[in-house]
This record gives sequence, C-alpha cells and structure tokens, in this order.
Amino acid sequence: MTAIVSNEKIPNNVNLSSDKRLQRALEQWLPNYLGWWKEMGPEGFQANDVYLRTAISVAADGWANFDYVKMPDYRWGIFLEPAQEGRKVGFGDHADELAWQQVPGEYRSMLQRLIVTQGDTEPASVEQQRLLGQTAPSLYDMRNLFQVNVEEGRHLWAMVYLLHSYFGSGGREEAESLLERRSGNPDKPRILGAFNAPMTDWLQFFMFTTFTDRDGKFQLLSLAESGFDPLARTCRFMLTEEAHHMFVGESGVARIIQRTCELMKQHPSEDVTKLGGIPLDMIQRSLNMWCSLSFDLFGGEISSNAASYFASGLKGRAYEQKKYTDHLALEGNVEIDVPKDGRMVREQIPLRVAMNEILRSDYRDDNERVVRRWNEVLEENEITTFRFKVPSTRFHRSVGVYAGHPFAPDGQPLSAAEWEARKAEFLISDADLAYLRSIMTASVTEAGKFASYIAPPRVGIKGRPVDFEYVRL
Ligand SMILES: [Fe+2]
Ligand SMILES: [Fe+2]
Repeated sequence: MTAIVSNEKIPNNVNLSSDKRLQRALEQWLPNYLGWWKEMGPEGFQANDVYLRTAISVAADGWANFDYVKMPDYRWGIFLEPAQEGRKVGFGDHADELAWQQVPGEYRSMLQRLIVTQGDTEPASVEQQRLLGQTAPSLYDMRNLFQVNVEEGRHLWAMVYLLHSYFGSGGREEAESLLERRSGNPDKPRILGAFNAPMTDWLQFFMFTTFTDRDGKFQLLSLAESGFDPLARTCRFMLTEEAHHMFVGESGVARIIQRTCELMKQHPSEDVTKLGGIPLDMIQRSLNMWCSLSFDLFGGEISSNAASYFASGLKGRAYEQKKYTDHLALEGNVEIDVPKDGRMVREQIPLRVAMNEILRSDYRDDNERVVRRWNEVLEENEITTFRFKVPSTRFHRSVGVYAGHPFAPDGQPLSAAEWEARKAEFLISDADLAYLRSIMTASVTEAGKFASYIAPPRVGIKGRPVDFEYVRL
C-alpha cells in the first residue's frame, strides 16, 4: 500500500487490482452507485463543470488536486491511511493485543452494525441537500455545497469497501441497502433522526455542516481508534475531508452573521427582514435545532451498547491514545442529572456505560469554541445586545434520559404547556422557514456576487479569487 492513489476505474491506494474478486464486486456496485447519484444527488447540475478537489494521495500535505470536474465523473475511490507496523488494540478488554486485520468472529455483527450506521449517514446528507444548488447564495457557495456532496458520496464508498471486503454476502447486501433507503421517506427512512430532517434553505445547510458534520468528526475520531485496523485507517483519511465540511458550515454562518450586523448598523431602527437579512434570533433558533438534533446522534446517556463497543475494542473515545492513560475504563463514573418523578436526580454512571455521554460532551465543548468565534463577529461589529449560545444537552432531545421531558435551551425544566407556548421562540419555526425560502428563491449565478443575506468570504478556494467562476453554468 502506498500514499499515492491509483488511476484505475476505482481509484484506490489499497492495491485493489491484486484482489480480482473484490475489484469485480466493487465495479458491479459502481453503476448502482451512479444510478443513485443521478437520482438523488444535486439536482440540475450533473452536466456542469465544478471546481472540485480530488484525492490524489493520502499524504498529510497536498493530498488534493483542484480542477474542473463534472460531478458524475468525480473520482470516487478508496483511500486508507498507511498501516502502522505492529499497531495494537488501544482500549477495552483486548487492549495491547495486535490490532485486527480481519473481522474478529465474535464481534462480526456488532462491527457490521457500526459500519452500516456510519455509512447510512453519508448518502443521507446528499439526499437532504439535493435541491440546494437551485438557491445558492453565490457560485462560491454552490461549489462548496457540491464539494461536500461528492465527498459524502466518497465516504459511502469508504464504508462500502469495508462491507464488501470483510463481511461476505451479508456485507454486500448491506451495501445495496445503503442505496435503497431514502432520507425522510416514511417507508424506507435513513437510520438516524437528523438525517431524515428536511433541509430547505442555506441557513439550515450551514448549521447542518457546522453541527451534524461535526457529529461526524467525533464519530470518526472514535472509530479511528478502532482495534479493527482497516476501519481505523479508513476513518483517519475521512477526517481530513470532514474538516472542509465543518469549515463550510462555520464560515457560512459567520458570513451570515457578518451581513446581519452590517444591515443592523446601516438601518439601526429597522428589522433586518425588511432588508433581506436574517435576524440574529432566527439564526439562534436554527442553531438550537441542529445542535439538539446532533446531540441525539450520540445515543443514550446510559448505554450498554456503547459499553460493548468499548469493551470489544471496536469504538473508543475521541483521542483515546493521546488524551487518556487508563484505557480499560473499568473504574470511575460520570455524573449526570437524570429526570425522575418531576425533579432532577444526580446519578453516577460507570465509565463504560457512559461512553456516548463522554463523546457528546467533547462534541459540546467543540461547539462552544465555534459559537465563541461567531460571537467574535458580533464583537467586531460592536453589537452588544445579543450573544449566541450552545443549547443545553437536555434541550429538545428525542433520545436518552431527557427524551420526553421538556427543557428550555438553558436546561431549565418546563411544563408541557410552557414548552408548547414557547417552542417557536426556541426552535426554527414554519414561519421562519417560509421567510428564509422567500429570500432564497434562486441562485446568484454571477461570479463574485452574493445574496443579500450573506457577506462574501475573505478569500476564495485554493488561492483563487472570490469572483472566480467556481461553477460553469
Ligand atoms: Fe461524511
Ligand atoms: Fe461530512
């Protein structure tokens, strides 16, 4: 295996041509994938040239090549980080044994479930975003959307490679099913909640790529520690792509905030919706929505599944090797407040059973850093009357101990009646969505021009100017 990606029908750095059976199986999956892409990928732009990056290597620096590509010709492929000689299982009951190069029989179904669940999110997000090209705020943003989309498609390839290589006929069937489920379809929905939520405008897209792609980062960080070595190496390369998705989200929201501040200063007495801008409180409601949906993706606070994943060495904590010295996690507890009989009771949760909560709280800290940077945009613009906040992990949850208990974004318990009365103050509402659709009716297609509600970026992509023709229409 090398760092350089081959130039075959399925680009790869795993020496695919030496395994004819696997190569043939993946070449048979390829037209099915392309069929799915054409049906469910970005609608209306399949024949356009888009300035995209493509992996040509897995080396840390300079892995990407930038050029115009038509999306169906994107070089989706299979890229794993190089193996580390003698790598050991880093945690759990098998800590210090040699990492597995084949699936350990006793963990087969658990491991397959982990890979399928991760794999299902990748095409789901492409489906959720498929109409957004028609309302892009600029060519620069349209290109970023398509870059995210093709890379989520590649992430699907990464998981399908593992299913085909290591899980026999069961794995091949799961690979087919990944192309059959559809985001938001009541009969065959995607597996996880946030990946079935509709995404009808660009504020929701930027919040999704900030918060839900960041969930992806933390899931990948924990799988990058896996004792199943091919999964760990796959996820390490995926993380390099994920960083761009989160950049698109965070910088997109920051540019919307910047523009709102400018409009507030130009017309201090005016409602920014009169000027085609997005009010700060509406941005906060979207933040509350996607952050809370993403908290759910980490699973229940108290989870025997999470304990099994950790015990078996399949899924660790984020930065398991770097951050922790005790990799057994058999001693110690995590304290959480659990709602019981109308009040909050502090409970001690044994570490292994609390693995979901540990990952979610690392994720929450990362979100705090992002929101601090958004608040800096307010500070630079001398807006003193508003600050963005990360909602409490209790707020608006459908999974875990807080599900079914209404809380305000600051974590205070509410009665069911209070929740109903105040829901539209907390979460993006139908009225908000209707307003956002009204200011996003068509794409801005002149290079260097931007929609009324968003500031231009400071720099373009890969040294290109902001007014570069990122998509040739
Ligand atoms: Fe992904
Ligand atoms: Fe992503």
